[in-house]
Amino acid sequence: MALTSFDAIQLKVQDRNGEIRILNIPAEAEYNVMEVLKTFGYKMRATCGGMGLCADCHCKVLEGSDDLPDPTDQELETLDEIPDAAFNSRLSCQIKPGQHLNGVYLHLMPTDYY
Ligand code: FES
Repeated sequence: MALTSFDAIQLKVQDRNGEIRILNIPAEAEYNVMEVLKTFGYKMRATCGGMGLCADCHCKVLEGSDDLPDPTDQELETLDEIPDAAFNSRLSCQIKPGQHLNGVYLHLMPTDYY
């Protein structure tokens, strides 16, 4: 069933301390996932400003990865440079908003900063 603009997208997030929350994101939200996480109070240094260059927003997709758009070449290049990246790693700033987020479960990865 398609979501209407009155429905919320449910994104499940495990933070850097292990706390799990389900975020209800308005279906019409236009921010990338890193920006969405910031609006929900998660700390995001985002040194590069969401350009996919710093990996401050590194997360691992625990569920729903098949529904997400493929990573860009820039995202893959940056992930290649960080030691704790895995097959399910993504940069949350490079994940666009949309219905594909509904039911996705992300784990925010620690960085040197946090
Ligand atoms: S904020 Fe820099 S890579 Fe996502």
